[in-house]
Amino acid sequence: MQIFTTRRELQQFALGAKRSGKSIALVPTMGFLHEGHTSLMDIARGKADIVIVSIFVNPKQFAPTEDFDRYPRDFEGDLAKCEAHKVDVVFAPEISEMYDVNSSTWVEETVLAKPLCGASRPTFYRGVTTVVAKLFLLAQPDYAVFGLKDAQQCFVIQRMVRDLDFPVEIIPAPLVRDADGLALSSRNRYLSADERRRALSIHQSLLGAKARIISEKTFAPAISEAVEKVSAAGGKVDYIEILDCDTMAAPDENSKRVILAAAAFFGTTRLIDNEIFEL
Ligand code: PAF
Repeated sequence: MQIFTTRRELQQFALGAKRSGKSIALVPTMGFLHEGHTSLMDIARGKADIVIVSIFVNPKQFAPTEDFDRYPRDFEGDLAKCEAHKVDVVFAPEISEMYDVNSSTWVEETVLAKPLCGASRPTFYRGVTTVVAKLFLLAQPDYAVFGLKDAQQCFVIQRMVRDLDFPVEIIPAPLVRDADGLALSSRNRYLSADERRRALSIHQSLLGAKARIISEKTFAPAISEAVEKVSAAGGKVDYIEILDCDTMAAPDENSKRVILAAAAFFGTTRLIDNEIFEL
């Protein structure tokens, strides 16, 4: 496994690989890798000749009040996991390598990125699309794999790829849960045992709301009940909403696939989860 820390090394490697007819799959991450990430690497491995994993805690997607400084990091552990999952290249740049000091260009998707996490974290998705666009230009992937835990991120990146003609296929990968149902996230590390137990209410309430929406064909009572359940478990609900996956607007009579998405704080930790289903 090769480790690159400069943009030049990665881009030269990727352009050389493409010239010799090899396909590339990219798995962008912020490190502190867990089974959700390794499942993305396995999908990537099944798709392309070369698997590249980027490990970069991207400051541009954190607001000044957020957890950039304390975001968990474990570079040695991450490398061992990449090696075990047959990754060919790890790209792990420093911030000063990734962004020039006077970097002033953003890539911003302006519709799908607005609700849900985009409403609570207004600068988040433009930070994501900016770094992902750079990673696509550096790693030249034919495929890029993104987990559906942040399904909105996946939809935003698919729209960016379509709108800007990036020659890359986005592969959305299933959300991975712990045995008790909690969606895997590097931020789960922040939870105390008690917060973690109470945070299970997010997934449970989404499942309850989904069943009720499918059987009753109305949204509001099911969503209010889900908000009540998470609040009763001590969570501070940021949002629980149902949106059309294609428009990220309220579902209407043409909607087919919807996302029932939640974000809630347990203690100071903000967790997200979702259920995607057909109406
Ligand atoms: O999902 C993440 O871990 C990040 O948002 C990503 C896609 C690696 C961009 O920094």
